[in-house]
Amino acid sequence: MSIAVVANASTWAWYFSRATGLVALVLLTGIVVLGVLGPLRVATERWPRFAIRALHRDVSLLAITVVAIHVIMIMLDQYVHVPLSAAVLPWGSSFKPFWTGMGALAFDLMIAIVVTSLARMRLGYTAWRFVHWFAYAAWPLAVAHGLVTGSDSRKPWVLALTVACIAIAAIAVAMRAQNGTAAGSLEA
Ligand code: HEM
Repeated sequence: MSIAVVANASTWAWYFSRATGLVALVLLTGIVVLGVLGPLRVATERWPRFAIRALHRDVSLLAITVVAIHVIMIMLDQYVHVPLSAAVLPWGSSFKPFWTGMGALAFDLMIAIVVTSLARMRLGYTAWRFVHWFAYAAWPLAVAHGLVTGSDSRKPWVLALTVACIAIAAIAVAMRAQNGTAAGSLEA
């Protein structure tokens, strides 16, 4: 394979890694909002609660797939040199180690949440719910990771997107906190 082909592939991987990172952030924000809507019992005739729950689950599966593609693209990108282990080990990267590690931690939490949700019947409600609360931790970790490691994060439209995600998630979480601990739990 010629050097030009490898360089070209690496450039494409770099574009895709940035794009998938941003899509993952938007999806993760959507998951937080949809997760909060469940216990708040926000539902309409058109969007009954079971539909919101199903959407929350489907967006979660889509998000973890997009993050997996993000990680594969990072591996293919010759510029950043991040080893495969850094996908799940928070100390595995030599490129911006701490902040790439935040991304790995967010990914680990997402995997834990999806696995425990798939095994929810066997696990029992209390254990599942305990792990599910980590959804809230995965989101700020991912935001911090994207802001510091991203090549595009200083661009106005990327900053605007990130601020919009933060504002939307903050409103959803504040509504949830206000509505109270009494209202129940996140539902997958
Ligand atoms: C929940 C999981 C994750 C989310 C939501 C996420 C999201 C993002 C976002 C939004 C960016 C900034 C894109 C830009 O502005 O250019 C980014 C960049 C980056 N991410 Fe992630 N990420 C996640 C997990 C990971 C993991 C596990 C790794 C480790 C391999 C990783 C490695 C990187 C690297 C190296 C960059 C810098 C790419 C560049 O701009 O050159 N991410 N990520």
